[in-house]
Amino acid sequence: MKFETRAIHAGQEPDQLTGAVVPPIYQTSTYKQDGVGGARSGYEYSRTANPTRTALEECLAALETGARAFAFASGMAAEDCLIRTLCRPGDHVLIPADAYGGTYRLFANVLAHWGISYDAVPQTDLDAVRDALEGRRTRLVWAESPTNPLLSIVDLAALAEVAHANGAFLVTDNTFASPYLQRPLELGADAVVHSTTKYLGGHSDVVGGAVVLREAGYADDLAFNQNATGGIAGPFDAWLTLRGVKTLAVRMDRHCANAALVARLLTAHPAVSHVYYPGLPEHPGHKVAAMQMHGFGGMVSFRLAAGEQKAVAVCGRTRLFTLGESLGGVESLIEHPARMTHASAAGSALEVPADLVRLSVGIEDADDLLDDLRQAISLRSSEVITNCTSGTERLKLR
Ligand SMILES: Cc1ncc(COP(=O)(O)O)c(C=O)c1O
Repeated sequence: MKFETRAIHAGQEPDQLTGAVVPPIYQTSTYKQDGVGGARSGYEYSRTANPTRTALEECLAALETGARAFAFASGMAAEDCLIRTLCRPGDHVLIPADAYGGTYRLFANVLAHWGISYDAVPQTDLDAVRDALEGRRTRLVWAESPTNPLLSIVDLAALAEVAHANGAFLVTDNTFASPYLQRPLELGADAVVHSTTKYLGGHSDVVGGAVVLREAGYADDLAFNQNATGGIAGPFDAWLTLRGVKTLAVRMDRHCANAALVARLLTAHPAVSHVYYPGLPEHPGHKVAAMQMHGFGGMVSFRLAAGEQKAVAVCGRTRLFTLGESLGGVESLIEHPARMTHASAAGSALEVPADLVRLSVGIEDADDLLDDLRQAISLRSSEVITNCTSGTERLKLR
């Protein structure tokens, strides 16, 4: 079956009892057993397994063309469980120099205390990756492509080769692309992680995460750890995500088309000094993106020539682009990464530029979106807002 068909049908046979076309929300914690040890259809307790979650997991495995998928309460819960399944104290991990701030925080501020060390390397430079792996006991290479928020593109097939040649797993965070645009397992990655909160859910109404494994080899270990640590997706969250997934393909097409128009507008705007969008021919990763993706995604970042205060002001001036964290929903969002999503990277090698603005371009009418950006960027300096919380202050709050 083709992708669009799998998104609607994989894991979603009509309900055996009633014929319901949509998998029911099995809002239950436990299941009646037919005598001790007689669990029906294998379900005994919903931390271990729940039919609505199973439907989502089977669908995600089919979309990423993996052997098994696991649905979690959030993207971070998925990352944590996968890392603690694959790594042991003493292991080393390589992360991208512009990793998502929360991933960086997990390695730097949580897992480092449990004996897992990391180095951050720009993965667009494969020689730098090889140098960083040289003589190390690196257990896994963690990749993102496109990266959040700088939209770097990594050659995933080449990175997989380098990782495997050094005995390391390649894990790819596929949140920005979604399996509709890119399937890292087909490019050689061993596992994919998602914040399903984003494009997979697609409607900004649910927080969730997923791991998809290329081979079944570690599936039992991951299932064990998921059950043992308990960060599972609840039935209603799994159902909402599954509902979002059905329209992933059509939404992504529109996200890509709108984002391309936004990137073109920004490129031509005199107040904008830099545009990050892999669909632009001048983007350093454009050729690789064209090779490994089936579209360039809905995320666009840009920098303001006038600097940080102007970037902050633009974020406060849009009317359609809602100022908020997260991404991948049908509605357009705008944010200031240095003070919001990436505040946790402040003062580190992964700090993001202060004049950077990130857009999650939604599926509204393109002209309305372009008009909104034009008016927000064309503000006078007297209208600049200066009373925002600084990145360092926010970091303390988190
Ligand atoms: C690329 C990426 N990975 C992982 C996460 C974490 O996902 P969640 O917020 O669902 O825990 C995010 C969240 O923004 C993200 O953007």
